[in-house]
Amino acid sequence: MLDWSDTKPAPAPLHPAFVPPAVDATGLGAIARGAARVSVDEKRMINARADVNQLLPLKYKWAWEKYLAGCNNHWMPTEVSMQADIALWKSRDGLTEDERRMLKRNLGFFAASESLVANNIVLAIYRHLTNPECRQYLLRQSFEEAVHTHTFQYIVESLGLDEGELFNMYREVPSITDKAAWALRHTQSLDDPAFATGTPEADQRFLRDLVAFYVVFEGMWFYTGFAQILSLGRRNKMVGIAEQYQYILRDESIHLNFGIDVINQIKIENPYLWTPAFQDEVRAMLKDAAELEAAYGRDTMPRGFLGLNAGLCEQYMHVIANRRCAQLGLAPVFAEAENPFPWMSEAMDLKKEKNFFETRVIEYQNGGALAWD
Ligand SMILES: [Fe+2]
Ligand SMILES: [Fe+2]
Repeated sequence: MLDWSDTKPAPAPLHPAFVPPAVDATGLGAIARGAARVSVDEKRMINARADVNQLLPLKYKWAWEKYLAGCNNHWMPTEVSMQADIALWKSRDGLTEDERRMLKRNLGFFAASESLVANNIVLAIYRHLTNPECRQYLLRQSFEEAVHTHTFQYIVESLGLDEGELFNMYREVPSITDKAAWALRHTQSLDDPAFATGTPEADQRFLRDLVAFYVVFEGMWFYTGFAQILSLGRRNKMVGIAEQYQYILRDESIHLNFGIDVINQIKIENPYLWTPAFQDEVRAMLKDAAELEAAYGRDTMPRGFLGLNAGLCEQYMHVIANRRCAQLGLAPVFAEAENPFPWMSEAMDLKKEKNFFETRVIEYQNGGALAWD
């Protein structure tokens, strides 16, 4: 149980030798009757001593703004017509065999990945991120991941795909399994019921999880997946799925940028965690991830299509990996390369590119102009 008798602002940053007192990280412990009111200074990203059940006063306005942006971007997959996709999928020569292979593996990768990301948020990240405004965003993000999983259910149902084949790809297709297994290694250490943040070693484990899921999974791997489908959409193929991916991309770019902000804020508050050795480790993670993605690219696109092939996807991943390094304040991991898919940033701006795929586009309260790519 919490001892609230010494509720005063913690010195920031904490020294590595400092072991924070036991905190009620879940917010489900006994109520601290008579405790002092929460002050903004006590709020911290991890190891907070402030009551996690009190949203206000807000400290991290960037988290609240992303929560509002997520709500304004609300969409449902069933609002997108699948008629053109169904006709194309069922026509004998509507898609090449290569396009079908890429499409199915892409859907298979996303179908399980959305659940892996959601489970990581709810069962690992949420518990250890001790800030109510960040948790508010995580609750919104969790729902968005549910909408994304729903999208794959809707696509499978609409096209009459083999659901067992698609949802098992993350276990049965080696290039997809390798990616999922790599990411899971980083969340499994948090899965230990005895795991708690509060030591430099444990806090770095938490940071590794954030890097693996927010920066790599959502911020790198999803991006080649988006490029594959949006490239089909640009050639007027599978336009319904392409439109759904546009909405997913809009959501994911906020997820990614929330994760980057979380990591950077933890760095500010706990600078001793961000050692040169740890920075090298994070850069090595991004490099590994780009290599896993290159293997996935070769597997899903052995021959390539108009404007898209494994080599261009690998180049794109180098650009994206370097961009993520810059966002985290790290030196680039690859030689500077030209972005082979400049149209990806246009695809994200739904307001500007309302008729990008010439399908019915639902007008949302906020078309979601994005500064976050
Ligand atoms: Fe998602
Ligand atoms: Fe996401």
